[in-house]
This record gives sequence, C-alpha cells and structure tokens, in this order.
Amino acid sequence: MATTITEIPGPKGLPVLGSLLDLRRDTLGTFLRIRQEYGDVVRVSAGPPGLRTVLHCVFSAEGAQQILASQAANFRKDNQFYEELRLSAGNGLLTSQDADYLRQRRLIQPMFTKRRVDGYATAVTLEAAATAESWRDTPEVDVVPEMNRLALRTVSRILFGADVEAAVDVIGRTLPVISDYVTQRGYAPVNPPRTWPTPANRRAEAATREVYAVCDRIIAERRAQGEGGGDDLLSLLSRASNEEDGSLDPAEIRDQVLVFLLAGHETTATSMAFALHLLARHPEEQARARKEAESLPPDHTLTAADLDGLPYLTMVLKEAMRLFPAAPVMGRRCVEPAEIDGHLIPAGADVLIAPWVTHRHPDLWPDPDHFDPDRFTPEHEATRHRYAWFPFGGGPRACVGQHFSMLESVLALAVLLRSYELEAVDTEVPLSAGITLQATGPARVRLRRRMP
Ligand code: HEM
Repeated sequence: MATTITEIPGPKGLPVLGSLLDLRRDTLGTFLRIRQEYGDVVRVSAGPPGLRTVLHCVFSAEGAQQILASQAANFRKDNQFYEELRLSAGNGLLTSQDADYLRQRRLIQPMFTKRRVDGYATAVTLEAAATAESWRDTPEVDVVPEMNRLALRTVSRILFGADVEAAVDVIGRTLPVISDYVTQRGYAPVNPPRTWPTPANRRAEAATREVYAVCDRIIAERRAQGEGGGDDLLSLLSRASNEEDGSLDPAEIRDQVLVFLLAGHETTATSMAFALHLLARHPEEQARARKEAESLPPDHTLTAADLDGLPYLTMVLKEAMRLFPAAPVMGRRCVEPAEIDGHLIPAGADVLIAPWVTHRHPDLWPDPDHFDPDRFTPEHEATRHRYAWFPFGGGPRACVGQHFSMLESVLALAVLLRSYELEAVDTEVPLSAGITLQATGPARVRLRRRMP
C-alpha cells in the first residue's frame, strides 16, 4: 500500500535556545503538549546554535512498534544517553550491542526464565512482610522512599543472597549519585570531560569506586566458592557458561550487577509507589484489591502460584504503570533513513519514543488521565494495539526483568494491603524524568492496621 510521507512538524521555540527552556522546566508536560499541538511525529530542537540537539519524537503505538520491533535493527542504542550510561555502568546487558550483546543475552536469559523468577517469590514476600512490620507503629508513611527501600532490599537480596546486608547500604547511597550523573550528562547539550576534577565528576567517580569495591569483593568470594556456591543471581552469573560463549569474567559480571541494580531498582520502586498511592486515593479500587488479597489463605507466605489468584491487583499495577511508566522515554539513533508512521526520519537522527505520552494518547485511551484498572481486563487488552502500553519497552531489547518485576510488585502490594488500609495525604505528586520517572515531592499515606 502506498503511503504519503509528510514533512515532520514541530515547535519553533525560542530563536536561540529552541525548546530547551520548556524541556528543562517541564520535560514530561512539554512532550504531552507538543503531541497535542503537532501530532504523533514531531521534530523538536533544543539548545543554542552549534550545540543544538534535534529530537525526532514518535508518540503513536504504531511508531513505537516500528522503532522497537519491526525496524529495531535500524534504531540503535548509539545516542548520547546510552553512551553516558555505558561509561558509568559498563557494557552490560542494557547497554551492549551486536555480538557482545547476543553473547550476554544467551548467558543471562536462563536466569530470568519463569521457573527461576518464581523461585524469587519467597525473598520478595519476606522483604514486603518486613516493610509491613516496620510500619506497625507509624500513622503515616511516604510511599516513595518506603518502596525505594523495599525494591532495593529485594533486588539486592536476589543478587547477593546472604551478603545482602553488606551491599545494601553502599548501593542505596551510591546508586542515586551515579544515576543522577548519567541523567545530567545524558541530556546536557555539552559536557565537561569526565577526567576534569569538577565536583560532579569527583562525586560520581567516588560513588562508582565504592560500589565497584563491594561488588568486586562479593564476586571474588563467589568465584572462590565455585560450583558449591548458592543460587542467588550473582552465583548464577559467576557460574554461567556454555560452549559457544564461554563464561563471564569478573568485570563483565560486575557490569551486569550494576545494570540489574540500575535498571531493576528505581523502576520497580516507582511502579509500586504509584500503585499504592493511586489505591490510597481510590478507596473503592483499594477495597476490591484488598478483598482479592485477603481471599488467599491467611498466615501463608505468598508464592508465585498465588499470582493467579490476584488478577485485579495485576490490573491495578498495569494501570499504575500506564499512568506512571517508570521509564517515561527511551531513545535510539536512526542508522538509515526510515519511514516511521508516514514520516521520513533522516539517517543519524536522535529518536525518542515516550510511553509517558503514548500511554495518555486519547486515541488509544478514553479519558486518559482517569485511573481505571478495568482497562486491563483480558477483553480490553485484546482489542488494543500491542504498543498502546509498553512500560517494559518491546521487540528484541525488551526488559529482561519484566516478569520478576511484575511478580515482585503484585506480591508486595498484596502483603501490604492485607496489613493496612491506606488513605492519601498528598493528592498530587510532583514528578521529574531522570533515567526513571521520579517523584520530587512526598506521596504520603495514612495507615490503619488491619492485622494484629
Ligand atoms: C517496573 C519495573 C521495570 C521497568 C518499567 C523496566 C523498564 C525497562 C525498559 C523500558 C527497558 C528497555 C529500554 C530500551 O529499550 O531502551 C528495559 C530493559 C532492561 N531491563 Fe528493565 N524494567 C523494570 C525492571 C527491571 C528489573 C527488575 C531488572 C533486573 C533485575 C531489569 C533489567 C533490565 C535489563 C537487563 C534490560 C536490558 C534488556 C536487553 O536489552 O536485552 N529491569 N527495562
């Protein structure tokens, strides 16, 4: 079928800075606004002449599918953001490409099979129960730091097993520094060299050195244990090997650990925090979710098998991830000129796709700002475009931690809802977009304990 290729529209912005100030002031709001004003494929320029970045933003489900899946080979992780991430967090599964990537994926994929992931459920449930217990005498909590701590402890326990306590404090302190540094540099029009002794460079280097030291020490211990080691993720990474790919050396293992921490911690924390906060603002949906959680046998430690009994809570989580996708935007570099959703994207273009915008696209989601978990009944899901909802990306580079994250979030929410009734104190939560979506203000909820 012949398509008409049309010129890409976009805002003019200020003559000198383009749309830089709008994007700096309110990145997420600016993307929503430019879709409303200019459509599904928009060209935005930002920054002063000579240092100007031109972004090609694609907001439709069709366009996201083309970039992530059907034309994925032509859209590479060669942009400034991924380059900075590679320099800070190494060449792990999230950042590597080509032969390196395929080798890593073959070695790592077996650690994320359903059977393996289901085995992590006990750690998840125990950590969530510890969080519930720590709230016992507290009338009110801010769910953002609380879920951050829970997600950090859970992913650290799964990675480091018995060494969780040795790792968790250092990681909690250093990871935000590394993640802020990558975000700053990933989107700045110009960056000082990393070798200059600026305060930001020094802080990030110290944080990286500290987190490397902890990982290296635990990795060395695991390798010394050899086959006799445990079955935490780090032991599995240390033992992973096959004939074609050999095994991962200690530096490669460390890169993977950092990627799992960076990609798996804040993202899951954000999803759980917003799901809880939305429930705290919507008592009817909360009561329905709790009824489901309480229909599971009391005093029983939840396992992966219990997920089948929690379909509504799963829908709540999906709806929370629609409204607050933890990775609100993703970027790629276009290699050869490509036709995307009826527009020609030039070779070398910086391309941005945005779950944040597609998830609120009024053609895909009626009344898009309204919280309604029933959008995710199987019947409704079957009628929507496959890429109307893509918080985990898609195509060959889709999130490897997707099942783990869903399992963790749904089971943790079930444990917390069985223990407490929640009522929102803050109704609106201010947001910013870094590597992940972040709350920049409190998301407090009042607690009423249900269990003795
Ligand atoms: C709510 C939770 C999560 C969200 C929203 C999320 C989101 C994403 C997204 C959007 C991508 C694709 C990035 C791109 O295409 O540029 C991705 C990739 C990835 N994620 Fe996640 N993630 C989550 C949890 C996790 C967890 C728990 C882990 C690991 C323990 C993890 C590890 C990874 C890795 C290794 C990749 C790269 C996969 C590849 O390229 O083959 N993520 N994630």
